[in-house]
Amino acid sequence: MYKKIPIIPLAVIAVVVAAITAAQALIIDWLPPASTEQAERTFGLLWFLFWMSAVFFVIVTSILIYAIWKWRATDDDLEDGPPTHGNTKLEIVWTVVPSIALVIVAVYGYVVLERNEAVAADRLTVDVYAQQFNWTYGYPEAGIETGTLVVPEGRQVQLNVRARDVIHDFWVPEFGIKGDAVPGITHTLWINPTKTGTYPVVCAELCGVGHSVMRSEVKVVTAKEYTAWLAKATARVKASTAATAAAAKLESAPGDVAAGKAVFEAKCSGCHADLGKTAGVGPAIVGTALTTDQIRAQIKNGKGAMPGGLATGTDLADVVAFVESIK
Ligand code: CUA
Repeated sequence: MYKKIPIIPLAVIAVVVAAITAAQALIIDWLPPASTEQAERTFGLLWFLFWMSAVFFVIVTSILIYAIWKWRATDDDLEDGPPTHGNTKLEIVWTVVPSIALVIVAVYGYVVLERNEAVAADRLTVDVYAQQFNWTYGYPEAGIETGTLVVPEGRQVQLNVRARDVIHDFWVPEFGIKGDAVPGITHTLWINPTKTGTYPVVCAELCGVGHSVMRSEVKVVTAKEYTAWLAKATARVKASTAATAAAAKLESAPGDVAAGKAVFEAKCSGCHADLGKTAGVGPAIVGTALTTDQIRAQIKNGKGAMPGGLATGTDLADVVAFVESIK
């Protein structure tokens, strides 16, 4: 047993152990830059835990290394050591100190969790849909869906994470959040983006053969850019919906038989010989049992060796009218 604490050798060992511990913490880039308030708090907690653990690690390891070196057995020493009894003072210290440390960690962790999940009244809600093997983002207020998540800086965003097939996991390392997408369950996550930029969205749950490529992007933009983006995305969706409706209207309008005959000669007679009266590469059309809607759908979408899209819009309406006139 020692009479005095061997301060100098212990200090030397402690400095070396502390230097190695600090070096691996500081040299390696462990975390991505925090880009939400949640990530700042979570990463702060993580580093607090690390440095606290490092202090205890240095103390315990230094004493251990000193003891191994100081009281090592010689080669011919086969005796057991002298019996020793417990040290009440030491036992109190090593019970009380870790207890205090655990209480500090618990309180800090609770505060971080509480603040990270504090919901703001003016938050933006975005639906996140996971499916093998891609991510879709829905903006319920605007009624649009996108393949890239776009969120404004400086405003809370609530992400309602859902799965359309199997279990996935929504993870943006820079956001410091991660949440399972489970079929039948809505998993809510909150972020307060603080830094504009483009960050990766990663699926963090093995979900099938395409799991490793189930990536997407999230763009954090300024509030002004977000408003502009949303207006543009909404307008584009409206325009394409209107265009689809207009095209459908044109296609299903009553067609002109004579004009349809010209379209048929140009686009169809290569395969449907003799103006559809006899079979060429394709079958004869005269005598077909297809209804008008089926004829239109087949010209539009194709069938077997016949490609779709040979006639669109007014041409489609006309050629349907022509086929109707000969069938
Ligand atoms: Cu989706 Cu892994």
